Amino acid sequence: MASVSFHNIQKNFGDVKVILGISFDIQDGEFVVLVGPSGCGKSTLLRMLAGLEDISGGEISIDGRVINELESKDRDIAMVFQSYALYPHMTVRENMAFSLRLRKADAQTTEERVANAARILNLDKL
Ligand SMILES: Nc1ncnc2c1ncn2[C@@H]1O[C@H](COP(=O)(O)OP(=O)(O)OP(=O)(O)O)[C@@H](O)[C@H]1O
Ligand SMILES: [Mg+2]
Repeated sequence: MASVSFHNIQKNFGDVKVILGISFDIQDGEFVVLVGPSGCGKSTLLRMLAGLEDISGGEISIDGRVINELESKDRDIAMVFQSYALYPHMTVRENMAFSLRLRKADAQTTEERVANAARILNLDKL
C-alpha cells in the first residue's frame, strides 16, 4: 500500500470546470470512500489518480512522489471499473492471475496470491 495526497487538484473539460481545487491526504492502508451526487467528479478524480485523465491543476502524490507526469503503467496502482470487464475466454483463475502474468510474477507467487484472493472473496470453488 502507499499514502496518497491530493493538493489543490483541478479538472477542466474545455471551458467547463469540473473539479475546482480539492486537497486531502490518504494514509498508508487507510480505507477511503468518496461520496457525492452523480456528476460531482468522483470518477474523474480517480481517473486522474490512475493516469487515465490529465490533471488541469494541482498535484497528486503517491508516497510523497508527485505523479502528475508519470505514465499510468509506471504508477503501480490498480483500478476496478464501475462497469467491470472480464476476459470471457479465460477461466476465473486466469482472469485473476492476468495482471500478475503481465508483471511476469513467478508461478508460485501467482498461485499463492490468486488462491489467497479467491479465498477472501469466496471464489475458491470457481
Ligand atoms: N470526458 C469528458 N468530457 C466532458 N465532460 C466530462 C467528461 N468526463 C466527465 N465529464 C463531466 O465531469 C463531471 C464529473 O463526472 P464524473 O463522471 O467524474 O462524476 P461522478 O461523480 O463519478 O458521477 P457518478 O456518481 O454518476 O459516477 C460531469 O459533469 C461529467 O459530465
Ligand atoms: Mg462515477
